[in-house]
Amino acid sequence: MISKQVISLIFILPLLIPVVNSLEIQEENEERSILLKLKKEFGIDPSFLKSWSSDTSHHCNWEGIQCDAAGSVSGILFRFMNIKERVPGFICDLKNLTEIDLIGNLIPGKFPLPILNCSKLQFLDLSINQFVGKIPNDIDRLLNLRVLNLGYNQFSGDIPSSIGNLQFLRILSLLTNRFNGSFPPEIGNLSNLEFLGMAYNKFLPSKIPDEFSKMTKVRNFWMQEINLFGKIPYWIGNFSNMDRLSLSTNNLSGKIPENLFLMKNLKIMDLYENKLSGEIPREIECLNMEGIDLSTNELTGSIPEGIGKLRNLTRLAMDRNRLTGEIPTSIGLLPLLTNIQLFTNNLSGELPKELGLHSKLEGSYRKYLQIVLVYQI
Ligand SMILES: *[C@@H]1O[C@H](CO)[C@@H](O)[C@H](O)[C@H]1NC(C)=O
Ligand SMILES: *[C@@H]1O[C@H](CO)[C@@H](O)[C@H](O)[C@H]1NC(C)=O
Ligand SMILES: *[C@@H]1O[C@H](CO)[C@@H](O)[C@H](O)[C@H]1NC(C)=O
Ligand SMILES: *[C@@H]1O[C@H](CO)[C@@H](O)[C@H](O)[C@H]1NC(C)=O
Ligand SMILES: *[C@@H]1O[C@H](CO)[C@@H](O)[C@H](O)[C@H]1NC(C)=O
Ligand SMILES: *[C@@H]1O[C@H](CO)[C@@H](O)[C@H](O)[C@H]1NC(C)=O
Ligand SMILES: *[C@@H]1O[C@H](CO)[C@@H](O)[C@H](O)[C@H]1NC(C)=O
Ligand SMILES: *[C@@H]1O[C@H](CO)[C@@H](O)[C@H](O)[C@H]1NC(C)=O
Repeated sequence: MISKQVISLIFILPLLIPVVNSLEIQEENEERSILLKLKKEFGIDPSFLKSWSSDTSHHCNWEGIQCDAAGSVSGILFRFMNIKERVPGFICDLKNLTEIDLIGNLIPGKFPLPILNCSKLQFLDLSINQFVGKIPNDIDRLLNLRVLNLGYNQFSGDIPSSIGNLQFLRILSLLTNRFNGSFPPEIGNLSNLEFLGMAYNKFLPSKIPDEFSKMTKVRNFWMQEINLFGKIPYWIGNFSNMDRLSLSTNNLSGKIPENLFLMKNLKIMDLYENKLSGEIPREIECLNMEGIDLSTNELTGSIPEGIGKLRNLTRLAMDRNRLTGEIPTSIGLLPLLTNIQLFTNNLSGELPKELGLHSKLEGSYRKYLQIVLVYQI
């Protein structure tokens, strides 16, 4: 019996090889025709994707297409192409898609459900489009996602708790949408998250959930203007990778946790426009700090001498508080300081004589930093 099978295998194998080859070719042709159909049904303007017209070039060489080592389509990058149609239902017939990047189009309608069928997807960027409505509850079908960028759309409602199941997620951007419900504590389950951008949404008033303390890899915690109240939790100071913290324009109250000024990697700390009170922490060891903005709060006491240790500081704003005392001389010696705002306080004494001699001061306006998202999968 066994030898019979072996023998028949020996005979069949050579026959199988060409069959496999022609299967591959068939798959390739299939992917090519899916792409051509996609271009048509997505209403791609003829001024884009010109390389697609050639019959001779392999589709892996077409503009906006990425292929894996085996020659199967792995990425669709249709950026800033003026697309106004909905995402075609058959997009995931491209079985090996790991990346869909549709940033900067005019795609209307709800979250494109067909995309949920792309089970291998790792990177999804739908930012800067015209999407409306809710994030679907079964977003966690995209279990392999590393990057989810929904920023700069008009999504609304709640953030579904299932988002916390996307365990490989490293970048989550919900920036500048119309979310008007709640966000779930399950976001704290995203233990690989490095970028959490929720800023500029009208979420229901909420505290910063303690469950978020589990996301210890977060580097950029961008929670500006999302209706937060309560205290700044002490655990934030434990995020040792954090380089950018923005909690501005919320209703946060209480003292600034002392350990925020001990964060070794922190470069930007924006806490302006809150109701923070008490003194600014005295012990200052955040030596990489480049920008501190504590303006428009209810802070009292004096400006800590230790600020003068922050040799990389370019921007210091503490205006519109209730600070008293003198401006530490050491601040005048900072070599890179270009922007300092301390007006509308109760400060006394003279301006440090050295101020402006060691660095070139710019006008006294707030410098809004252009923040560009850099993806690194
Ligand atoms: C997807 O990738 C797998 C593994 O590399 C391969 O066997 C399969 O043929 C590919 N599918 C398509 C449609 O190319
Ligand atoms: C996903 O794929 C299944 C079968 O492959 C299909 O029945 C379903 O309609 C697809 N869903 C969407 C939203 O395209
Ligand atoms: C949230 O916004 C959507 C879309 O604008 C709206 O239909 C809905 O009623 C709003 N929900 C609440 C709770 O305000
Ligand atoms: C996710 O978070 C919720 C609430 O924070 C928690 O109850 C649940 O056990 C977590 N799930 C996992 C898989 O960690
Ligand atoms: C702060 O809370 C008040 C009501 O308590 C509300 O009117 C205001 O919009 C809130 N501000 C911010 C920035 O969330
Ligand atoms: C912060 O970290 C320290 C040690 O690294 C630990 O003892 C402490 O419990 C942590 N605090 C919080 C609030 O997680
Ligand atoms: C300050 O900036 C320089 C140059 O960007 C960098 O090499 C250095 O590590 C930073 N931090 C400190 C504490 O000087
Ligand atoms: C500033 O100081 C004066 C006199 O010391 C005091 O009357 C005033 O209330 C203070 N203003 C603020 C905003 O603290």
